[in-house]
Amino acid sequence: MVAAASSEDAVQTPRHVAIIMDGNGRWARQRMWPRTLGHREGVEALRRAVDAAGELGLDYLTVFGFSTENWRRPKDEVNALFDLLRLYVDRDLKRLTDEGVRVRIIGEREGLSSDILDIIERAEARTAHNSRLHLTIAFNYGGQQEIARAARRLAEDAVAGKIKPEEISAAMFAGYLDTRGLPPPDIVIRTSGELRLSNFLLWQAAYSELVFLDVLWPDFDKAALEKAMSEFAQRGRRFGGVGGA
Ligand code: FPP
Repeated sequence: MVAAASSEDAVQTPRHVAIIMDGNGRWARQRMWPRTLGHREGVEALRRAVDAAGELGLDYLTVFGFSTENWRRPKDEVNALFDLLRLYVDRDLKRLTDEGVRVRIIGEREGLSSDILDIIERAEARTAHNSRLHLTIAFNYGGQQEIARAARRLAEDAVAGKIKPEEISAAMFAGYLDTRGLPPPDIVIRTSGELRLSNFLLWQAAYSELVFLDVLWPDFDKAALEKAMSEFAQRGRRFGGVGGA
């Protein structure tokens, strides 16, 4: 099948891994700790994931930090998640900058407080010249909302006469998404054993290999990333039907 060839190539060499970092609450509950301590340990796991992504030669790592649906959580927990973004950027920005990591934050910016917007802008500006590893944090992000925002901007450009409706293609549409310029993820990992995409990268994950790991996010490490990448490689070999098992 001709259509399979390009997917097969993508499967052989993962460049972009996206992760739904799930299981912080359960990890904390197992220890009779408050959920927020699970999220705090989740930041440590994020640090390990960024290091491992660099060591394993990935070009892009995208993580789901806060979803548009997470606003439904208790206020304390929402505040804790915002505090953790602040903490992560405050503590790690210098190191990320020095290590060649480019940081981007995707998601809805409207409605975020000015201090969070400052933090986001500082992280993006300080690392804009980097290209060794592209770290994208989805924050206040929902895939359906992202697609709706893209459609709105596209419609505005059409009304303004900048584009013609008949010119609209999938490639053009992708250029209106928050992820414009990023390749689609080769692998989407979800930790904690849940089997859902939960509104993460709905457009971009169209051809991604989905890997579900039983590990809870605070326990995620390089070995877990390697496990996901080796599962991906096996699927690639089966997909092409050449050279492997
Ligand atoms: C899902 O676990 C995880 C989240 C909603 C937040 C993920 C956040 C982090 C890993 C902290 C780092 C974040 C940033 C932005 C630096 P859950 O709470 O749904 O776990 P549960 O399903 O076990 O309850």
